[in-house]
Amino acid sequence: MGCFITFEGPEGSGKTTQVHLLAEWLQAQGYDVVTTREPGGTRIGDGIRALLLNPLYVEMQPEAEILLFSAARAQLVGQVIRPHLARGGIVVCDRFADSTLAYQGYGRQLDIEVLRRITAFATGNLKPDLTICLDLAAEEGLRRKRGGDQAEWNRMEQEQLAFHERVRRGFLALAAAEPTRWLVLDAMQSVVSVQEAIRQRVAQHLNFERSVVT
Ligand code: TYD
Repeated sequence: MGCFITFEGPEGSGKTTQVHLLAEWLQAQGYDVVTTREPGGTRIGDGIRALLLNPLYVEMQPEAEILLFSAARAQLVGQVIRPHLARGGIVVCDRFADSTLAYQGYGRQLDIEVLRRITAFATGNLKPDLTICLDLAAEEGLRRKRGGDQAEWNRMEQEQLAFHERVRRGFLALAAAEPTRWLVLDAMQSVVSVQEAIRQRVAQHLNFERSVVT
């Protein structure tokens, strides 16, 4: 019944590059792969993304922020992720519900249990089979982003360093609580070594799945 892989981690950890390298490799192995990202990935989600990330909307309320991320997620799950998994395909998603727990829960310090309930509603309880966390010091991640395309600078990245440090600790806490789902990798390593470790873990997971089915 398909395989759902998500990538998480702080800003500037290189998720997008790794998502694409993994998808190319899986496609070359003959898998039917869809890559997507949050917030976004559908035209409704892209509209919501524009609201969420616009640096001008400094007045956005935390509750509104959660519900907008969740609305984009509900649309992506229903329109893209579940249909592809039902066809037996692999979905690779750049950020998913764990980002809400890390950014809104640990970063904004909102009630994690409330966030879990909202997220369960938005996704119909869909959970990733495997989550890769590219871990990086918050300061280093922000430095990488600032050195990059300023046009991509978004509302979340404007937050203080302490916020981003809480987010990073949040990801590590989530990973520690569910070690079989998560693989945490040091994003200071080269792109090639990070990708190698990801492929090993994914191959292990897919072989395991195959042996269960056959
Ligand atoms: P994006 O430009 O996609 O950042 P990145 O390249 O780091 O993934 O912007 C997404 C931003 O939204 C990022 O700062 C993380 C944040 N975010 C949340 O705060 N909550 C969420 O649930 C999700 C999915 C993202």
